[in-house]
Amino acid sequence: MVFVPKAAEIAREGGARLREFLAAGVETEYKGDVDLVTVADRTVEKLIRTRLGEVFPDHGIYGEEGTRERLDGEYRWYVDPLDGTTNFAHGFPQFCVSMGLEHRPAGTKTEEDGTLVAAVIYDPTRDELFTAERGRGARLNGKPIHVSAIPVLAESLLATGFPSRKRHSNPNIHFYHEFTLRSHGVRRAGSAALDLAYVACGRMEAFWEFNLNPWDTAAGILLVTEAGGQVTDFAGKPYRLESSEILASNGLIGDELVRFFNDLFAGRNLSPIPTPEEFAQARAARKS
Ligand code: IPD
Ligand code: CA
Ligand code: CA
Repeated sequence: MVFVPKAAEIAREGGARLREFLAAGVETEYKGDVDLVTVADRTVEKLIRTRLGEVFPDHGIYGEEGTRERLDGEYRWYVDPLDGTTNFAHGFPQFCVSMGLEHRPAGTKTEEDGTLVAAVIYDPTRDELFTAERGRGARLNGKPIHVSAIPVLAESLLATGFPSRKRHSNPNIHFYHEFTLRSHGVRRAGSAALDLAYVACGRMEAFWEFNLNPWDTAAGILLVTEAGGQVTDFAGKPYRLESSEILASNGLIGDELVRFFNDLFAGRNLSPIPTPEEFAQARAARKS
């Protein structure tokens, strides 16, 4: 499939622009509350839109900064030109370009998902290019990647994020607290697309978040599934691009996480958080 090489070139070009903007410094505007946007977000979306239009003139584009083109097309790119704007605005080097391609054959209803077929996530500060093609696996800088083999939550490193819109009504801080005390920790690194890419390459075991958009998740979902992982909603049902919640994992700890989400939502008594001694005993028991 020609999609990935072309999209990778475009993502690299977008990433190079982000590096230039970062070096030059950019002014930050507020879209609302603490929802930031910069000239870099807009310029790189425009660049990606132009380049995609040149190489795939029939493809649709759905971008965070407002691009809505040819949405009746057979293929549709979900584009986040800069995932991690808050980091970027502060010079914190954790952000990326994310591009995911959905195949929507004729007859796909507006409210139906198509099939994700190609994914590119580019981290310009580390020069890391994550790619995936449906049925052909996932790669990091050309080398195959796989989710981790860690089988229990207690030995997992997790990731989550918090929204910059309506943040007061988001319950995630409670989940953050509980998961932090039951795992090796929860990172809040500020780029959902990179969080998903990190699950795909085994740097973390799972990622969850409330209220993301398809431009944040489309590419990362294909990366995780092609790397052998699993992506669902918090109830363990198949993930849809319009789902308001995402739970991605290495698959091995998927059921444990879903049980835990069920209990938290139901307000059931959770098992007490293990003491350090109990953690050590459980680890020793798993090894023997
Ligand atoms: C944000 C990042 C962040 C996540 C937010 C997203 P943006 O995207 O992915 O990690 O927690 O929910 O909105 O605004 O930087 O493209
Ligand atoms: Ca984003
Ligand atoms: Ca963005």
